[in-house]
Parts: sequence; C-alpha cells; structure tokens
Amino acid sequence: MAGLMEAAFATDRHTMMKEANGVPGDLARSMAAPLSDWIAQGPRTHVLKAVDPHTDELLGWVCWRRSDETKMPPRPAATGGDGAPQVVPALSQGTDAPHSTVDELEHLTDSDRERWQREIMPPGTACWYIVAIAVAPRAQSRGIGAALISWGTTRADAEGLFCWVHGSEAGRRAFEKAGFTEDDHLTVDLDTYAAAPPGSETGLQRWGEYTFTYMRREPASTLHRNREAESG
Ligand SMILES: CC(C)(COP(=O)(O)OP(=O)(O)OC[C@H]1O[C@@H](n2cnc3c(N)ncnc32)[C@H](O)[C@@H]1OP(=O)(O)O)[C@@H](O)C(=O)NCCC(=O)NCCS
Repeated sequence: MAGLMEAAFATDRHTMMKEANGVPGDLARSMAAPLSDWIAQGPRTHVLKAVDPHTDELLGWVCWRRSDETKMPPRPAATGGDGAPQVVPALSQGTDAPHSTVDELEHLTDSDRERWQREIMPPGTACWYIVAIAVAPRAQSRGIGAALISWGTTRADAEGLFCWVHGSEAGRRAFEKAGFTEDDHLTVDLDTYAAAPPGSETGLQRWGEYTFTYMRREPASTLHRNREAESG
C-alpha cells in the first residue's frame, strides 16, 4: 500500500520537487509506520483497499476517519495567552527553526494545513475526513477513486455530517465530483523553495505554482436543501 502511494505521487510536482531538492524519495518507507497505525487504530479510522477481483492486485486505497465528538483531542503543546491554539510547526519540534528552503516549504504547508484543520474541526466537532487516498497510476480515471471516496461520503450523509479533505492538485477534481467544494487553499511557488530547477527527465521547464485545496462537503440532505433554495 505504501509503494502504491509512492507510485501515485510520482508525478505530483510538489512531491517531485521535494525529492529532487533534498527530501529523500522514500515515500514508501515513510508511509509504512503511519499506515500500520491507521490500520490498527479502529474503530473510527477505516483503511479500505480496492482490489482487482480477478487478480487480487491492489488498485488503490483510502484512509477515512470519523472525528469523535465526545472525545476532546489533547491540548496543543503550546497555547497563546488567551488559550487559543497556536499553529505548531511540524518540523521545528519546539525551538529548532527549519534550515533549508525545502524545510521552509514543509514548515509553511504543515502550519497552514494545521491552521485550517483547527478552524474546520475545532474540538468536539463530529465529521468525517480523508486522511490519505491513492490509486495506482495505471488504474486511475476508472472510477476507483470515486468509489473509495463514496465509501465515506455515504456514511457521512447517513449521519448528517460534513466531510473534509486536504486536496492535492490531482485529487481536487475527484473530490469536486464527489461534492466537495473549496473552503480555503494554499498556493506556493515551488521554484522559490527549490535549490535546483527540474531535471530534463521530468519534462518540466520550472516547478511552477502548486495549489493545495482545502475542501469541505456538506451532507447530501443539506446539499439538496441548498439546491432547492437556489432554484427558488
Ligand atoms: C486522486 C486520485 C485518488 C483519483 O483516483 P481515480 O481512481 O483516478 O479517480 P476517478 O477515476 O474516480 O476519477 C475522478 C476524477 O478525478 C480526475 N482525475 C483522476 N485522476 C487524475 C489525475 N491524475 N489528474 C487530474 N485529475 C484526475 C478526473 O477528472 C476524474 O474525472 P473523470 O471521470 O471525469 O475523468 C488519483 O488520481 C491519485 O491517486 N492521484 C495521486 C495521489 C493523490 O493526489 N491523492 C490525493 C491526495 S489528497
């Protein structure tokens, strides 16, 4: 499953730039521990595989999680004077500032993702969210992603809960088709953070701008009501 994720992100420019500029390209190895945790976490964390019924080949997988409205998450390590949560830089681990420009990019993307996550899912919020999703490159655009997404949106609809996801550029369209809409976004100019331009093997002139889209989906009953209101 981790290897499939590495293959799925092999053409993602943000991932390509980080790998080419000092972050070792071992996404598969770094995914192994989180995946094991997600699989063991239950019952609110669900890891689902899409498998070819004829060959048993793994085609894709998703990790969906339902937030627990009855269980308050642990307090953030650092809080402001007014008790408001602070954005905790993922890489700085407290006092060490990030060093390289790729580290700065990770610091920015992690901090901004955490900021939005705290806004959309304050303690006590009941919702469903996609932790990770990937479909094998040769199996993409055949509806497998849509099926993995609808597993969670169906449950969220039944419970009247909203869903959210941090969308990659490739994921945005798939999530829009499932009813997610943009709630916020972060656009970064990858060339600003890159120590070197793309190699000729990438076919890219520049790394370019990359947009992470933070997306939200209301439960179907709410969508239905909104459409009725729009049509008068
Ligand atoms: C995003 C992803 C999971 C979608 O899976 P999928 O099986 O290809 O999705 P579907 O076949 O259900 O397609 C849904 C829509 O997504 C879009 N889409 C699929 N693959 C895409 C790609 N590589 N780039 C851009 N859009 C893509 C298509 O518009 C498609 O709509 P269509 O049916 O009108 O063509 C898959 O492309 C993937 O693994 N991408 C790399 C990893 C990634 O970015 N994951 C998302 C992290 S948030």
